[in-house]
Amino acid sequence: MTRDRTRAPRNHQARDTFKPERRRAGSRAASSQPGTPSVPENPTLNPCDDPRIAPHCERVRALVTPKRWAHILRVAQTADAIAEGNAFADDARHAARLAAILHDAARDMSDAELLRLTPARSDAEAHHPLSIHGRAARILAERWGVTDARVLRAIEGHTYGVPLGEPVGMAVYVADVSEPGRGVNDDIRELAKHDLQAAYKRAVESKVNYLRARGKHVHPTTLEVHHQIAAEPS
Ligand SMILES: [Fe+2]
Ligand SMILES: [Fe+2]
Repeated sequence: MTRDRTRAPRNHQARDTFKPERRRAGSRAASSQPGTPSVPENPTLNPCDDPRIAPHCERVRALVTPKRWAHILRVAQTADAIAEGNAFADDARHAARLAAILHDAARDMSDAELLRLTPARSDAEAHHPLSIHGRAARILAERWGVTDARVLRAIEGHTYGVPLGEPVGMAVYVADVSEPGRGVNDDIRELAKHDLQAAYKRAVESKVNYLRARGKHVHPTTLEVHHQIAAEPS
């Protein structure tokens, strides 16, 4: 049985794993937590230095814990490295950074807050409101004026997956599950720097296999993506 390392086991679709840390976001603190690499993906990148992204940084930072914010910055750095490695055009690279900054905007909200933003669409979602934090973050991003469909789909899709052929969404998905602070999925991160689609397939397959092996619910959107991957010639 292959262990899926894309998600922590306790709360299948959406539970992220973090250790408390009190460092100020935007510094290199994100890379200095116990058990994490000393060098982040792109230590010189702070997407919040970009005036187009800075207001969103402030909004997100006000909604999440410091440790979450550190994770978010690492995801942005990793997504940017993936975008660079896969020769994204400048606008797509910017979209990946912005989506990464926004992807967990709702991750620290209470169940009630999440459900107020976006009602559950199934019993599974009703039982695990945390699993809708990607959709909730998309709604926040729209309220904050984000209109780029690639960004919005990537934000929402970071929990359930995005269709193959959406490079921005795939980059954010892979960056989220493999950023160095996770301490897992280094192979997926390295693969993603030169073959994003292969890395994305590996990440989704690993997740679905993990959930199925434990008899856990697999969200219909994740299943759709998985079927698409299975039908794709390798
Ligand atoms: Fe998330
Ligand atoms: Fe995340």
